[in-house]
Amino acid sequence: MIFAANFKTNHTRRSTELYIKALKEKLLAKKPEDQVYIFPPATALGTYEGDFTIGAQNAYPAKNGAFTGEIGTEQLEEFGIKTILIGHSERREHLGESQDDVAQKFAFFKEQGYEILYCIGEPLEIREEGDEAVMEYLLAQFDGIDISYKNLIIAYEPIWAIGTGRSATVEEIASTHESLKKTVQKPLLYGGSVKPANIKEIADIRGVDGVLVGSASLDAESFAAMICHK
Ligand code: PGA
Repeated sequence: MIFAANFKTNHTRRSTELYIKALKEKLLAKKPEDQVYIFPPATALGTYEGDFTIGAQNAYPAKNGAFTGEIGTEQLEEFGIKTILIGHSERREHLGESQDDVAQKFAFFKEQGYEILYCIGEPLEIREEGDEAVMEYLLAQFDGIDISYKNLIIAYEPIWAIGTGRSATVEEIASTHESLKKTVQKPLLYGGSVKPANIKEIADIRGVDGVLVGSASLDAESFAAMICHK
């Protein structure tokens, strides 16, 4: 299983250091085959030793240059970071990233050999239209994306389940993952209100290769409880 923590705009450099220190001890109990990723905010990126991978939540598709407010690969590689999250619904929605922007970013980071955690997910009105509409919407989020890229992990995150406390049901996750796997043969994570209380039922779904966790990952204890669940 893959367990990925997306801090979003939470935690500072100092609190990230404390978090990682606490998490590291708990990770001694994790299964060796499980993989852990942490995506802290840009100001907390750094070189941290341990049995986990640090990734960037976002970066501009350039090495460096005149892109005020952005960071490029020069800033990531200072810390040996070669993993990036692309296509998160919050960036599509609040930062106005179009499918074209996302695809361009994807192509750039692929070219640089980054491991890409690529997010897709439908809004509630599409979910309410039924499975066919959901799949059409999700597959359109692969436009311009090389889904055969070797360093690719996909995260299915229904927008209506993100940060709402209401996860998709086991049936919804199972059937969406099954359909997606017909198109994309890559590790497929589920994200959207994953927490210690529902990790077991979600992790047990066939076709779920891991989870991408926001709110419930912010506390090291809670994130570790999910990684080490039985
Ligand atoms: P959530 O966020 O766990 O708070 O729902 C998930 C995500 O956006 O990756």
